[in-house]
Amino acid sequence: MKLSAAFEMVRLLEVKNENPSTKTFVFEHDLGAKPGQFVMAWIPTVNEKPMSVGGDEGNTFSLTVANVGTFSEAFQKLKPGDRIGVRGPYGRAYQLKGKRVAMVGGGFGSAPLRFLAELARKKAVHVDFIQGARSKDRLILEKDIQKLGCHLHVATNDGSKGKKGMVTDVLAELLKANRYDGVYACGPELMMQAVGKLCEKHATYCEISVERYMKCGFGVCGQCDCGGLLTCVEGTVVDYQKIKDNPDFGRIHRDASGQKHFFK
Ligand SMILES: Cc1cc2nc3c(=O)[nH]c(=O)nc-3n(C[C@H](O)[C@H](O)[C@H](O)COP(=O)(O)OP(=O)(O)OC[C@H]3O[C@@H](n4cnc5c(N)ncnc54)[C@H](O)[C@@H]3O)c2cc1C
Ligand code: FES
Repeated sequence: MKLSAAFEMVRLLEVKNENPSTKTFVFEHDLGAKPGQFVMAWIPTVNEKPMSVGGDEGNTFSLTVANVGTFSEAFQKLKPGDRIGVRGPYGRAYQLKGKRVAMVGGGFGSAPLRFLAELARKKAVHVDFIQGARSKDRLILEKDIQKLGCHLHVATNDGSKGKKGMVTDVLAELLKANRYDGVYACGPELMMQAVGKLCEKHATYCEISVERYMKCGFGVCGQCDCGGLLTCVEGTVVDYQKIKDNPDFGRIHRDASGQKHFFK
């Protein structure tokens, strides 16, 4: 793992619309990232924020960004030819195990998991990919995931596509019917906690991505602490068994000023 603040200005090559509020941005740069790692992305004059790497193909890498606030809105306005700054890749990557796995993605969490699924399929690993969203227009990367040869299972809260309900409803059924070598999740923390509990019940290895407010991204500022876990270097990907009893996990996160907030 690189532990440096080395910084590159990178050129945007392509923008793909994923849904009305989410786009994938392909940049020209040999990043050398593994699935689960993130970069600190800097838009000059706006801000710098952590973003999970959604793909890395030699001299290009991609980020999938949901428009939720000031920084992510500025990201949506980027055009091919524009340049942003990146530092990284940072953080622990997913550890792919065995020959049959399940992946559970919520929101932009499906982007780093698509990257992991790509690696898995290259190794001929069977992948059940469960993707959840509030409604069908919030789903992302469905075609890309299917093109890889994954078995895609969709759950929407309003039933507009796939199963009406939560990703955990689908996972519960799959865990009853199959034996997985690993389950990998990325998305809202309470969703990942529920995934971890289900895997524990079925004695199945599970990794999740614990995300906290980040500033430096490489272990210096302490901002990303989660109950004693420095998520930018000891995570963001962790074994569920190692985080499940952490006092902040599934309960508390901190904002830019360090003030505590409870997950709802
Ligand atoms: C490891 C990691 C990977 C991420 N990967 C992606 C990704 O692939 N795609 C994506 O769309 N978003 C990703 N995010 C979230 C992203 O970093 C921003 O939080 C998000 O874009 C919102 O920023 P904003 O300024 O637009 O909105 P704001 O209104 O400023 O923030 C909205 C919410 O985002 C969170 N947030 C804001 N700034 C940060 C920060 N510096 N660090 C962590 N959380 C923050 C806060 O909980 C805040 O309430 C990731 C976050 C982390 C920690
Ligand atoms: S973001 Fe600074 S230590 Fe993790």
